[in-house]
Amino acid sequence: MATLATATATAPAPAPAVVPRVPIPAKGVDYRNKIVLAPMVRSGELPSRLLALKYGADLVWGPETIDRSMIGTQRQVNPRNGTIEFTRVPSNGGRANKTAKKSIIYRIDPEREKGRLIFQLGTADPILAVQAAHVVAGDVSGIDVNSGCPKPFSTSGGMGAALLRTPDLLVCILESLVKEIGEPYQIGISVKIRILSNPEETEALVSRLVKTGITGLTVHCRTTPMRPRESAIRDQIPMIVRICHDAGVACVMNGDVTSRDHGLALMNEYGVDGAMIATSAETNASCFRTKEDGGLSPWPELVYEYLRFCIESENRLGNTKYLLNMLIPGKVKEFQDTKLLKTYLDICRRLKFEDLLPAAAGLDQILGLDNQWKASPPSQSEPDTPIQSEHDIPTQSKAVQNAMESETARAAGGDAVRTKAPLPAVHGGGPIRRSSAPRPTKVTQVDAEQPAEQPAVEAPVPVAQTEAPSQVTT
Ligand SMILES: Cc1cc2nc3c(=O)[nH]c(=O)nc-3n(C[C@H](O)[C@H](O)[C@H](O)COP(=O)(O)O)c2cc1C
Repeated sequence: MATLATATATAPAPAPAVVPRVPIPAKGVDYRNKIVLAPMVRSGELPSRLLALKYGADLVWGPETIDRSMIGTQRQVNPRNGTIEFTRVPSNGGRANKTAKKSIIYRIDPEREKGRLIFQLGTADPILAVQAAHVVAGDVSGIDVNSGCPKPFSTSGGMGAALLRTPDLLVCILESLVKEIGEPYQIGISVKIRILSNPEETEALVSRLVKTGITGLTVHCRTTPMRPRESAIRDQIPMIVRICHDAGVACVMNGDVTSRDHGLALMNEYGVDGAMIATSAETNASCFRTKEDGGLSPWPELVYEYLRFCIESENRLGNTKYLLNMLIPGKVKEFQDTKLLKTYLDICRRLKFEDLLPAAAGLDQILGLDNQWKASPPSQSEPDTPIQSEHDIPTQSKAVQNAMESETARAAGGDAVRTKAPLPAVHGGGPIRRSSAPRPTKVTQVDAEQPAEQPAVEAPVPVAQTEAPSQVTT
C-alpha cells in the first residue's frame, strides 16, 4: 500500500502555467526586452531615429502621421541615398497647382531601419487607417495607433487621446488593422495609450484592447490632462502588465524613462516587457547606451553625428535646426547663432566640421539653399575627408574641442574641468554605412523638399504638411 510519502513523491508535478503569447508575425518584431525610441513629431524624423539606433535603441517609432496625409502619397526611392520617400504635391485647397513642389511626408532608411521601425498612425477611422497603413506596411516592421495625443487638433478629430473615450472605435480600428494589414503583410499591430485617472476604467479599456490581436501595448503613464513636466504615475502598471500578460501581449512602459539602464531597472521592478524613451532621447540619444558601454556622449559628438545623419538623409533644414536647438545646450553661448544660419554649409562651417563641408554644400544645392550661402562653397583647398567609418572622429575647432572636453568631464561625473584626454571614440548601436555623406555634385532639384523653412522654434505643426496636418505634436 502506498504510504502518504510515496504517494506524494509519485504525484505528478503541477502543470506549469501556460503563458499565452500572441504570435509575432514573420516580418514583425517582438517588443519584449527592448528599450525603444518613442514616437515624436518633429523630433522623430529619420536623422534622429538613426542617431538613436546608432547609440543602441532596439526599435524606433516614427512620428505620428495622420492617415489622410499618407493616403495618396507616392513611394519613391531617392537615388542619391537609397531612402524611401513618401511624397505628395500640396493640393492647394483642391485647385491643381502644377508648379508646386512635392512635400516629403515620411522618409525611411530601408537598410539601417530594417526590422526596427514602427510606423505610428494618427487616425479615428478604421477604413482610412487601413488605407494609410497599406501605403507603408511593406516598408516597416509594425503599425502603431496613437491613442494618447492630448492636443486639441488631434482630439477634436476624434484621434489620439480621444480614442481612450471611444473604445468601440479604437477596438474596431485595431481589429481592422490586424486583419487587413497585420495578417497580409505579416507585421505586428500595436497601440500606445495613456492611463485613465480611474484605474478601473484603464483596466476595462486595456482588457478590450489586448483581445484585438495586437502584439504590443505601450502605456504612457500620464493621464490625458497631465502636462509633460508632471511626474509619470506608475501605480497602474502592475494591473496593466497583468492584463497584457494574461492575453500574451507585450507591454512597454513610457513616461520619465531616462536611459537604457533606467529602463532595464524599471522593467525589472514592474515586470514590463520593454521601456520607451522620449524627451531624454530628444536631448541626448546616447541615453540608449548603458553606463558600462560608455554612457552619455558629450553634446559636440552628438551634434556632429546628428548633422552627418541629416546630410545623409537630406533632412529638411528647419527640422535639423529644431533639433540642433535641443542638442546644443543653452549655456553654450558661442554656438547659439548656429540656429540662425540658413544653410547646411554655414552650419557646418560655424561648428568647424570641416569634413562635412563638401557634403553640406551638395545638400544645400539639392534643397535649393545654395543661394543663401554666406560665403563661397568649399574650395579644393578645404579639407574633404570622407567619413569612412563610424570610428572616424571629426576635426574640431578649438572651441568645439574645448566644449567636448568639458562635456566629457561632466558626463564622466567630474566638474567642468578641462582635461587633456583624447576624444572618446565610443559608438554603440546600429550599423553605419561605410560610404560618406553625399558628394557635392550639382543636382537638379527633382522631388526635393520644399525649401520653405520654418523658424527653429517649437511650434505645434511641422512644415512638411499640405492640406491636413500629417504629423502633429503630441
Ligand atoms: C516633441 C514631442 C513629440 C511627440 N510626438 C508624439 C507622437 O507623435 N506620438 C505619440 O504617441 N506621442 C508623442 N509624444 C509623446 C511621447 O511619445 C511620450 O509619450 C512622452 O513624451 C512621455 O515620454 P517621456 O516622459 O520619456 O518624455 C511626443 C513627445 C514630444 C516631447
